[in-house]
Amino acid sequence: MKLLVIIAILFSVNAQAGEVKSSILINTDVLDHLNYDYAKSFEVFGVTTFEATKEQLEEIEHTAHEEFNRCGGYELISKEDSTMSLMELAVQTAKSHHELMSFKLDDININFKSEILLATEILDSDNLEETVLELSSFNSRSSNGVDPNEHVRFMQDKVDDIIASSPLEITSELIVHSRTAQKTLKVRIEGFKKPNEIIVLGGHLDSRSRRNTPAPGADDNASGSSNLVEIFRVLALQKPPERSIEFFWYAAEEVGLVGSSEIAKDYKANNIDVIAAMQLDMTGFTGSGAFNIANITDYTSPWLQQTLVELNKHYAGAIISDSRCGYGCSDHASWFRQGYDTVFPIEAEFRRSNRHIHTKRDTIEKLNFEHSLIFAKLGLAFAMELSNSDVRGPK
Ligand code: BES
Ligand code: ZN
Repeated sequence: MKLLVIIAILFSVNAQAGEVKSSILINTDVLDHLNYDYAKSFEVFGVTTFEATKEQLEEIEHTAHEEFNRCGGYELISKEDSTMSLMELAVQTAKSHHELMSFKLDDININFKSEILLATEILDSDNLEETVLELSSFNSRSSNGVDPNEHVRFMQDKVDDIIASSPLEITSELIVHSRTAQKTLKVRIEGFKKPNEIIVLGGHLDSRSRRNTPAPGADDNASGSSNLVEIFRVLALQKPPERSIEFFWYAAEEVGLVGSSEIAKDYKANNIDVIAAMQLDMTGFTGSGAFNIANITDYTSPWLQQTLVELNKHYAGAIISDSRCGYGCSDHASWFRQGYDTVFPIEAEFRRSNRHIHTKRDTIEKLNFEHSLIFAKLGLAFAMELSNSDVRGPK
C-alpha cells in the first residue's frame, strides 16, 4: 500500500528542464549532511533522485568519500527515466525485503560435484596476474578517452584465442551503446538443453582517475576482469552446459553503470530469461585479511547470497562475511533494478576495501593473486552449478 502511494506520487511529478544538471540516485544521508534541498516525497528506503549541478556532484562525491566512507556514492541516471528508475528501485527493494523475511536459509542445499572441484583446480593465479598486468599497462581505460576501445579490442583478441581452441559453440561480440562511445565485450557459450535460460557473469573493464592522471585500475577492475577470462578459459574446456552462459566486460561503469544499465534494460524489454547474474568487481586487495571476503547484501538476492556461501564451502574455502555498499555501487545493481537475481562477492568488507581506487596508485603490487583466485573458483563453480541445474529464484 505504502509502495502504491509512493508510485502514485512519483507519477505525478515531472522532471524540470533547466540548466545542465545530472540526474542521480543518491542516499539521502549525504544530501542531509550537505543541507541540500530535495523532494522528500521521492525518498524510498533512504535513497532519492536528485538533480545535481557539476559543482554539487563534486561536493557530493567529496562528502560521500570523506564523511561516509563511500566512493562517489551516487549513480547517474538518464533524465527521461529518472522517475521510472526510482519506481523500479522501490519495487525491487521491497521485493528483496519481502524475500529476506520469507526465505529460510536452509532452503538452499547444493551437493558437492567432483567435476566442479576438478575444474577449479585448473584455474591458475599466474594467468590472473598476467591479465591484470596487461590491462593496468594501458594509461587509462576510461570511457571518455581519445580511443576508449583500445583495451576492449585487446580483450576481444584474448577471448577469441580461447574460442578458437574450444570445441564448444561460443561467440564473442562488441555491444555498441547509446550513452557512451565505449563498447561492452560479450561472450556467449550456447546451452545445449535450455539455451534461452542464461547465467550471467560480468565485471567492468573501464577505469577512472582524477583529472587526467593515469588510471591503471589494477584492482578496480582489472582484477575482476581477469577472473572472468580465467573462468571462461576453464569453462571452454568443459562439456557443454545445459543453460547458456554469458560473460560481460561492461563499458563505462565508472561514469554511472552506463553500459550495464543499457544491457539489462534491453534484456528486460526483450523478456530474456536471465536466471542469475554474478558481478566481479575488486577481487585482489586483502583489506580484511587474506582469504577473508565479503558477500554484498544490498541489490543482491538472498537465495544467491546463500548459494555463494554453499559453493564456497565445497570449492573455495574462504571466510565470508556479509557487507553492504549502501548504494548501487557496481553493475549488479543494473540487473537487480530490472528484476533479475544477482550476487556480488568482493575482496574485503566494503569499508576495508582498497582505498587507492580511482587514483594512479591503484597498482598491481598491492594485490594478492591467491586471494583473487578465490573469486575465479566461486565464479566457475557458480557457472557450472547453475548452468547444469533447473533451479531459479523464488518469484
Ligand atoms: N568498484 C567500485 C565499487 C566498489 C567499491 C566495489 C568498493 C567494492 C568495493 C566501482 O567501480 C565504483 O567506483 N562505483 C562507483 C559508483 C558507480 C555507480 C559510478 C562508486 O563506488 O562511487
Ligand atoms: Zn570504480
